[in-house]
Amino acid sequence: MKRIVSILIIIAILGGLGFWALTSPMAYTIIRKGGTREPVAPVDSTRAPDVEKGRVLFFAGGCTSCHSTPNQDDKLRLGGGYALKSPFGTFHVPNISPHPQDGIGAWSINDFIRAMREGVSPDGGHYYPAFPYASYQRMSREDLGDLFAFMKTLPAVEGHVPDHELPFPFNIRRGVGLWKLAFLDGQAFAPDPSKSESWNRGAYLVNGPGHCAECHSERNLAGATIDGRRFAGGPDPEGRGTVPNITPDPSGIGGWTEADLVTLLTTGETPNFDTVGGPMGSVVRNTAQLPEGDRKAMAEYLLSLPPKEGYKAPKP
Ligand code: HEC
Ligand code: HEC
Repeated sequence: MKRIVSILIIIAILGGLGFWALTSPMAYTIIRKGGTREPVAPVDSTRAPDVEKGRVLFFAGGCTSCHSTPNQDDKLRLGGGYALKSPFGTFHVPNISPHPQDGIGAWSINDFIRAMREGVSPDGGHYYPAFPYASYQRMSREDLGDLFAFMKTLPAVEGHVPDHELPFPFNIRRGVGLWKLAFLDGQAFAPDPSKSESWNRGAYLVNGPGHCAECHSERNLAGATIDGRRFAGGPDPEGRGTVPNITPDPSGIGGWTEADLVTLLTTGETPNFDTVGGPMGSVVRNTAQLPEGDRKAMAEYLLSLPPKEGYKAPKP
């Protein structure tokens, strides 16, 4: 009996140590980078950031949809406070304004790149993937430098938001380390040289900053988007019905032209004289700010996707 108890204690200790080791941000960096402990390479400091490009990426990224304080006319005040619902609990989206204490005003560019590409905070904790870094990780360092420079031009907002309301075991941040090992590939966007420049721009905007698949896909039990179901629609991650299929299948945007998609991303109007609302309404408020060429590029890319049959909600 005594022996069994000691064996169980040893197993528990080893299990605990294993969990601790595997969930450290360093483990993620080492395992993902194939054994080389590569520090986050600093951005080229001789290149002045392009604030205008940063503005475009900011709107492509839809940061205001989650980070601007709800019910406030000026969407550029990123004081946070939106209560983002998920199957794992409610997240209170933080202040990312350039306020030095309450926001991210004291961050270095490398802190920002690490947050966006690896989901790691300056004090070494994991972020929850409700912050869609599984998409933002595709963004290039230069683009993140430009985005950060633009965000520094926004007003500093005071105030902290409440802690997330997550039940056990989701309240253990460390556990996100396991999620990352399974689902965060750490790859930046790689252009396809056989495709046009505009197609590649569209692929980058849709899969990277635009994070379109984060809503338009089904997710597995761990809350990660399922590769084979990307863009085919799925249940709304915040639990408000379903999100439509945006692949060119008859159950999706099969009958749409590039011009139809550009109109949708500019005004929110669909070809059948409807207007998108809710979460897509906020997306359109952002894509409306992009140069026309970027909306065209996104449309070109979406229409080139392999058609997939759309998600069907289970009958109640
Ligand atoms: C779908 C909602 C959503 C969108 C869109 C979003 N974020 Fe966030 N973001 C979050 C949540 C939730 C957190 C908190 C994560 C945590 O606590 O682990 C967060 C955290 C952050 C943090 C860390 C802040 C801190 O205090 O540590 C930064 C930086 C950030 N987001 C930047 C951005 C940028 C830049 C964009 C746009 C390109 C963006 N986010 C878009 C939901 C979102
Ligand atoms: C926050 C979740 C969310 C994100 C992010 C999102 N969408 Fe949507 N999208 C929706 C919802 C919900 C609808 C349905 C809206 C409605 O019918 O009112 C929708 C509708 C659409 C439609 C219309 C489809 C149809 O059949 O009517 C298109 C096209 C579309 N989205 C493209 C995009 C693109 C491109 C992106 C990335 C830039 C994107 N969406 C990002 C939630 C989202």
